[in-house]
Amino acid sequence: MTSPAVTDDTIAIQVRDLSFRWYKGDTVLDACSLEVPKGEFWMLLGTNGSGKSTLLRLLAGLLQPQSGYIKPLPKFGFVFQNPDHQLVMPTVGADVAFGLAEENLTSVQIRQRVQEALDAVNLLPLIRRPIYALSGGQKQRVAIAGAIARHCEVLLFDEPTALLDPDSQLELVSQVQRLVKDRGLTALWVTHRLDELEYCDGAFLLAGGKVVDRGDPQRLRQRLMGG
Ligand SMILES: Nc1ncnc2c1ncn2[C@@H]1O[C@H](COP(=O)(O)OP(=O)(O)O)[C@@H](O)[C@H]1O
Ligand SMILES: [Mg+2]
Repeated sequence: MTSPAVTDDTIAIQVRDLSFRWYKGDTVLDACSLEVPKGEFWMLLGTNGSGKSTLLRLLAGLLQPQSGYIKPLPKFGFVFQNPDHQLVMPTVGADVAFGLAEENLTSVQIRQRVQEALDAVNLLPLIRRPIYALSGGQKQRVAIAGAIARHCEVLLFDEPTALLDPDSQLELVSQVQRLVKDRGLTALWVTHRLDELEYCDGAFLLAGGKVVDRGDPQRLRQRLMGG
């Protein structure tokens, strides 16, 4: 097990030599290391079962590794594949406000945060819309607005476009690209859709429990397309 010699403030997400296995299960991560620079949008690719979701859950502190180092994340938001599993309130505005319940804000501040966050994802006109009347892509944008309202610095996405049609898919990924740039956020986005690679700053390929390739998304795209 190693840990970084110095704290590097330019790195928002960092794991070093991370190892994880399920109880009585196979090893999922085996001395896995990766770093995402602050203010960048990186993607994580790998075949089904390669450990992408496990890695995100470790980062989020939902699982504990057997060994290795995880740099504590700043305030973060987690967006899952199925938005129906994370939107809990009946309307758009109420759902974004719900995440602020523990922030000790006045009702005026809550309203401002909710409006600003919904504006950032172009959903302000739908603030009173019932959640059930949204498209899948709009639901994902409500989940992102929840993280923006809480002033999260890091966004973790676990295949957020898997249930979306191609138009909503590209709308979501390009919106996240813009949010990351405009707000100086850092995002790690798990996907298996290679056409999304053109929106990110860099990508990791996870295989055999390790990051086996990293860097330029176009090069990874070529590699994975067999080019
Ligand atoms: N709750 C669990 N208990 C035991 N094994 C699990 C559990 N969740 C996932 N796994 C196993 O861990 C491995 C990695 O899974 P996962 O991280 O979900 O992969 P990916 O997201 O890349 O498809 C797989 O072999 C999977 O079967
Ligand atoms: Mg997964």
